[in-house]
Formats: sequence, structure tokens, C-alpha cells
Amino acid sequence: MIKSLLDIEIDCLLSAITERYGYDFRNYARASLKRRIQNYLTVSDCNHVSELIPKVLHDKECFAKFLSNMSVTVTEMFRDPLVFKSIREDILPKLKTYSRINVWHAGCATGEEVYSMAILLEEEGLLGRAHIYATDFNAKSLATAKEGIYPAENVQLYTRNYLKAGGKSSFSDYYQANYESAKMKDSLREKITFASHNLISDQVFAEMNLVLCRNVLIYFDKVLQDRVLELFSDSLVSRGFLVLGDKEAIKYSIVKDDFEAVSERLKTYRKVLHV
Ligand SMILES: C[S@@+](CC[C@H](N)C(=O)[O-])C[C@H]1O[C@@H](n2cnc3c(N)ncnc32)[C@H](O)[C@@H]1O
Repeated sequence: MIKSLLDIEIDCLLSAITERYGYDFRNYARASLKRRIQNYLTVSDCNHVSELIPKVLHDKECFAKFLSNMSVTVTEMFRDPLVFKSIREDILPKLKTYSRINVWHAGCATGEEVYSMAILLEEEGLLGRAHIYATDFNAKSLATAKEGIYPAENVQLYTRNYLKAGGKSSFSDYYQANYESAKMKDSLREKITFASHNLISDQVFAEMNLVLCRNVLIYFDKVLQDRVLELFSDSLVSRGFLVLGDKEAIKYSIVKDDFEAVSERLKTYRKVLHV
């Protein structure tokens, strides 16, 4: 099949970026990748994708902007509250027997989901022996996540989500409010390590009891999804848990036999014991 001119230009751009910077977008789902590149084109002063190539190769700032445009960082506290309720009721009780609990949020964006998990662990009496690793490849989002300061206008939604997720206290116990923003409490932040990690090129870095990677795999093609799911499987201890996003599943993936569903509907899975 003959490729369109646009596809040829995109292939050249992505190869150049991989060679120059080690960020490999070649196995991202094509339709949304194309949309985001075309979107970047409209805010740049270029008419064609091929004109972007020398710019991103020679100008690191231009590449940083391109990179930030490539990530969709939409997130919220207790996003899909019923998933967090199920983590509270079905997963955390099974982690109570461990003396140390490692949790990995891969693709944590600006960190709202990570603080939500810290709150759950606190309310279930597990935060003291837990450590949360929160990673993303987007430096700007990670900086926001580390700060843990969110717009006050989001607090109403987060409070509703917290209650739907079975919140046992008052959401306001977990942040200090001022007129414009809510700053998450240090006691939560102290249990979180925020770090840069690229799911495509970086390796497993610790043994995990629970891995959450929600709304990230949808941006990858099947080859990349399989590779990243294998990384999660390798990183989990035997009988560890994996939580994916609403539109992501393990059913047709390379690791389908490594996991059983806790809830297929909520995309929560548990690693099986192979004998
Ligand atoms: C839509 S956000 C998901 C945030 C959160 N997990 C949630 O579900 O609300 C997707 C995140 O995946 C990150 N991401 C995309 N590709 C990545 C990669 N190769 N390595 C690490 N993070 C990546 C993006 O930077 C973005 O922050």
C-alpha cells in the first residue's frame, strides 16, 4: 500500500526524534498521534510536518514543546470513583499481610490519582508501610505532581469523587486550602517518589504489589501495549495487582495468562501463581 505524503513525513519526524532524543513515538496509536502532530503544526510557524524536523532536531526548546503537546495529561482525583472503591474494598485488604507495600502509578500525569491512592492507603491504615512510585515522561506534569497544588475550583468535584470512592473522613482533611488553590498535605507527599520514567525505553525499577496504569495504554498500538504490559507483569510480585483504565484490557494481550480478573468491568487484575 502506498503511504500518504503526511504519513511519510510523520514517519521521518518520529525516526529523527527517536535517533536524536531517544523518545520513540513510532508505536503510538496512529490516529491520535496524527491528530496531535497536526495540532502542533497549527501552533508552529510550519506548513508541513517535514518542516518541523530540522526545528525539533536543532532546537531543544522546540522539542520540549513538541513533547508536551504529545502527552494528553487529563486526570482527576479519584477518577472513576468506583475503581477506587474497589481498590479500597477488594485489593487493599489483601495487601494487609505485607510488611512493605510498593505501589507504582505509571503515567501519573499531574499526580491527582497518586494523592488519591495515598489517601486510600492512609484511611485503610497502610500508608505507614507503603511507598508510592509515581512516574511519567512529561517533565512539566511531574513538576506539578511533585508540588501537589491544585486549583480550588476542582475541589468540589474531587470531594464528590472521594465520597463515591467510599471516603471515610472529610476530603478537606487532606489539603490546606487558600483562596485559589488546595495544597495536598506533606504527610501524603512524603510517601511518594515522583520520577521520570519512559514506559517505552526504561526498565522495571522495583518489585511492586500494585501497579496502576490508567488511560495510558489507549495511546499505544498493540505491539507497544504488549511490551508495556510485560513490563508490569515482570515488575509485580506473585499475586500482585494491576489496574488499567476504563478502555484498556488484558484479555487479548500477550500477558492474558499471567492475570485473573478481580473485576473485568473495573479493569482490575491479579497476577496468577504459575507452578
Ligand atoms: C491521560 S494521562 C493519564 C493520567 C492518569 N493515569 C489518569 O488515568 O487519570 C496519560 C499520561 O501518560 C503519559 N505517557 C504517555 N506516554 C508515556 C510514556 N511512554 N512513558 C511514560 N508516560 C507516558 C503522558 O505524559 C500522560 O501524563
